[in-house]
Amino acid sequence: MADTRVLRIAMNGITGRMGYRQHLLRSILPIRAQGGIVLDDGTRLTVEPVLVGRNAAKLEAIALEHGVEEWTTDLDGVLEDPSIDIVFDASMTSLRAATLAKAMRAGKHVFTEKPTAETLTEALELARIRQEVGVTAGVVHDKLYLPGLVKLRRLVDEGFFGRILSLRGEFGYWVFEGEHQSAQRPSWNYRAEDGGGMTTDMYCHWNYVLEGIVGPVRSVASRSVTHIPTRWDEAGREYEATADDAAYGVFELETPAGDPVIAQINSSWAVRVHRDELVEFQVDGTHGSAVAGLTRCVAQHRSHTPKPVWNPDLPVTESFRDQWSEVPANEEIDNGFKLQWEEFLRDVAAGRDHRFGLLSAARGVQLAELGLLSSAERRTVDVPELAVHAAAHDDHVVAPDAGDAGATGVGDRAAGAVAEVAR
Ligand SMILES: NC(=O)c1ccc[n+]([C@@H]2O[C@H](COP(=O)([O-])OP(=O)(O)OC[C@H]3O[C@@H](n4cnc5c(N)ncnc54)[C@H](O)[C@@H]3O)[C@@H](O)[C@H]2O)c1
Repeated sequence: MADTRVLRIAMNGITGRMGYRQHLLRSILPIRAQGGIVLDDGTRLTVEPVLVGRNAAKLEAIALEHGVEEWTTDLDGVLEDPSIDIVFDASMTSLRAATLAKAMRAGKHVFTEKPTAETLTEALELARIRQEVGVTAGVVHDKLYLPGLVKLRRLVDEGFFGRILSLRGEFGYWVFEGEHQSAQRPSWNYRAEDGGGMTTDMYCHWNYVLEGIVGPVRSVASRSVTHIPTRWDEAGREYEATADDAAYGVFELETPAGDPVIAQINSSWAVRVHRDELVEFQVDGTHGSAVAGLTRCVAQHRSHTPKPVWNPDLPVTESFRDQWSEVPANEEIDNGFKLQWEEFLRDVAAGRDHRFGLLSAARGVQLAELGLLSSAERRTVDVPELAVHAAAHDDHVVAPDAGDAGATGVGDRAAGAVAEVAR
């Protein structure tokens, strides 16, 4: 009979939106229910969650409802518990770096929501600790596992686009202010002092999406704004929205062949959707173009490209959307979070690195910080390459050309990070 191995996972922040829905309900519980995963050597790897949080009543109710045996409000205790193999964190962003650092120092593998930290300094320190202690670390890069982006990446791999010229992304929807209708996102998202803000939240996603589809980001010119200055929280109290609720960015990318690509991404919680999906990316190349959302992807080859003629005197006579062909999945693509969890669990079992780790996450935090700096100083900012140097405490960043610092307001955090990079 094949061997069975159980990985015990302490899951922190499990009462929150992401922790509960995507990680517990859609990933860990289904992995447990399907009897785990079978490794290459025939070993069956199963999982056992231990729920961690502040609110005992909520944890107990979730544990009861889903047949989870263990839960605790003692985060420090669970980090020291030798029976725990993996620590997962989906708590508030501002609390994350401390939890992950403690967990790794206690020898735990870590899997975490993004962003890994509020500053690049902290994010890089996490990558350095991981390298020092040698655990496996994974950071949610969920968008790259979604069917739409899997298809888009396949088109890139197959050379469908020819030379890629540009990428355009449109992300957003209307988030209610909370006064007459409750807001559909937590109020801390709109308070800078609590780690909120569109740029901080989404640029770490866009960094790995851009890297994963086209290539690394070499520069950023961005504008972060707060369109809605007053919102109402979960208790119906009015509060000042101190964080940005929209970010308009232009990014210069470089393909593996060394070609420059211009990417533009609009991110906003103050727009109404006239799109097929809440996020869409269009890639245009010399030989073809494609538009991908979270699930669908459509493409138009050079040989199928119509020749529209600009004539404002006539109404449009053709249906442009009908001129694109659906890109098929050709395989079943499971929930993106679950797929990444399964890959991460295999990496933990094999004792190897996960392909989306803390350094990739640090680049995401870096892009958010430099985006905020660009906005505060109204200029294009180069993105220096990052690397972690083992066991070096104060020169662990390789950054040849970091620019200067000195922003105020929203850019202060960014300025600190650039100083760190330049050190
Ligand atoms: N991958 C994605 O697409 C995605 C989407 C949204 C959010 N996120 C990330 O997931 C994380 C959680 O976001 P969310 O939307 O689920 O938020 P949420 O507010 O719904 O959940 C936050 C969790 O943290 C806990 N928490 C809040 N304040 C705390 C405190 N002071 N001390 C201890 N625990 C506290 C809450 O109880 C809850 O369990 C954030 O870091 C966010 O950036 C990722």
